[in-house]
Amino acid sequence: MTPPNSTQAMRDELHVSEDFLAKYNRPGPRYTSYPTAPIWNDSFGPDDLEQVHAEANAAHSPVSLYMHLPFCESLCLFCACNVIISKNKGVTPPYLDVLKQEVERVSQNISRKREVVQFHWGGGTPTYLTPQQIEDLFTHAHERFTFSPSAEIGIEVDPRVTSREHLEVLRKLGFNRLSMGVQDFHPEVQQAIHRIQPYELTRDLILAARDLGFDSINVDLIYGLPYQSSERFAHTVDQILTMAPDRIALFSYAHVPWLKKQQGSFATHLPEGMQKFEIFRTGLSKFLDAGYLYIGMDHFAKPGDELATAQQNRTLHRNFQGYTTKAGADLYGMGITAISGIQNAYAQNHRDLPGWQAAVASRGIATMRGYRLSEDDRLRRAVISRLLCHTVIFKDEISKEFAIDFNTYFAADLQKLAAARADGLLVETANELRATWLGRIFIRNLAMAFDPYLEKQQLDAKPLFSKTL
Ligand SMILES: C[S@@+](CC[C@H](N)C(=O)[O-])C[C@H]1O[C@@H](n2cnc3c(N)ncnc32)[C@H](O)[C@@H]1O
Ligand code: SF4
Repeated sequence: MTPPNSTQAMRDELHVSEDFLAKYNRPGPRYTSYPTAPIWNDSFGPDDLEQVHAEANAAHSPVSLYMHLPFCESLCLFCACNVIISKNKGVTPPYLDVLKQEVERVSQNISRKREVVQFHWGGGTPTYLTPQQIEDLFTHAHERFTFSPSAEIGIEVDPRVTSREHLEVLRKLGFNRLSMGVQDFHPEVQQAIHRIQPYELTRDLILAARDLGFDSINVDLIYGLPYQSSERFAHTVDQILTMAPDRIALFSYAHVPWLKKQQGSFATHLPEGMQKFEIFRTGLSKFLDAGYLYIGMDHFAKPGDELATAQQNRTLHRNFQGYTTKAGADLYGMGITAISGIQNAYAQNHRDLPGWQAAVASRGIATMRGYRLSEDDRLRRAVISRLLCHTVIFKDEISKEFAIDFNTYFAADLQKLAAARADGLLVETANELRATWLGRIFIRNLAMAFDPYLEKQQLDAKPLFSKTL
């Protein structure tokens, strides 16, 4: 049984109080990996990653490639991504030279018998590159791997810097998915976040993309931005609905001023608590009314979209880019800060340009830190992933797969969930832990019960994660 996805079911359940938010709206990971990145360490280096590369070749797993293009023309003040801001386009040729060397080196470790099922360009803003640079880089990569004919090839584009010529070249090369940043259309919000992006500009780019035949178009929105209100956001959602994107990411604004100082500039104008929750509920309700399905953790898709089908079939998977249908693929990240998730290990590239350049020049493999999962980590990763992807954990499945008794192994974790059960986030039966609508919204809180590293992390003086709402 899939969870009820109707607006009425959601409305019936989604009533929260200030006390509820005080209890549940607290810092927590987004679990794009488990264990989370702060647990990884620098004792894991390039040698370890190459060992993992060899294991993946032996396993003959499908391949997912990620390339990080960090450049943007100007800084959006809310942004928590890994970016390099430069108006001077002269920064790109040296970066692309190093990236191509890294692609060449990584490709040597990937058997040509393994198919690339997914290729994603993220940023920053990959369309900061010129169409010619995009073509050159894509061709360089394409020649070095074996692409599946049905590979998903996607790119993040900022409509403010993306031309029709960009889209034409992308389509010609075989890109079939676009993800566009929008965030919010209200002028006062756009002014506060330093991102002026008219509705018409975004609409025209989506029309052009449809015209060129891209299979799937996603738009990113954020709730909880400065000067947002439910009424204002309702209007943004109505405008988005006129464009009928295939997928929508409705992210919770992550306020992490200890990492991104510029976010402090509008800190006193942020909607908080109930106000932020109402903005989210407005978006959720309008997207469900319009026929979109809530996939989970901020993501919506049209019925019939692969993500929706994968959720129904319980084949949905989660990696660093969010939800994906490509379960079982090993992810190879290239470029500054890029993350790999291969077999039972994670690795991250150097986060500073000189460090990354030097590592690629000397060794080709630019690992700065990483982590090899223990048996317990793997078990907990499976539990957290099922919760986030399917919103239900079947205890007998996990017990069988890992040769344990679920209730005994997770006795302490299940006890931590007692409050969530009492507060209506979770229903537990003999064989199931199933998130309710409320639990699906606060799914990070449920996952946190299975993360033993958190207790130690929360003792740290410095905050690590944004809040769960
Ligand atoms: C790499 S950007 C998208 C591509 C392009 N740079 C753009 O902005 O159009 C990825 C997305 O991350 C989201 N994002 C960035 N900072 C965020 C934050 N502090 N909280 C929540 N979402 C954030 C935004 O929705 C943004 O569109
Ligand atoms: S939101 Fe996009 S365009 Fe704006 S700074 Fe972040 S990555 Fe760059």
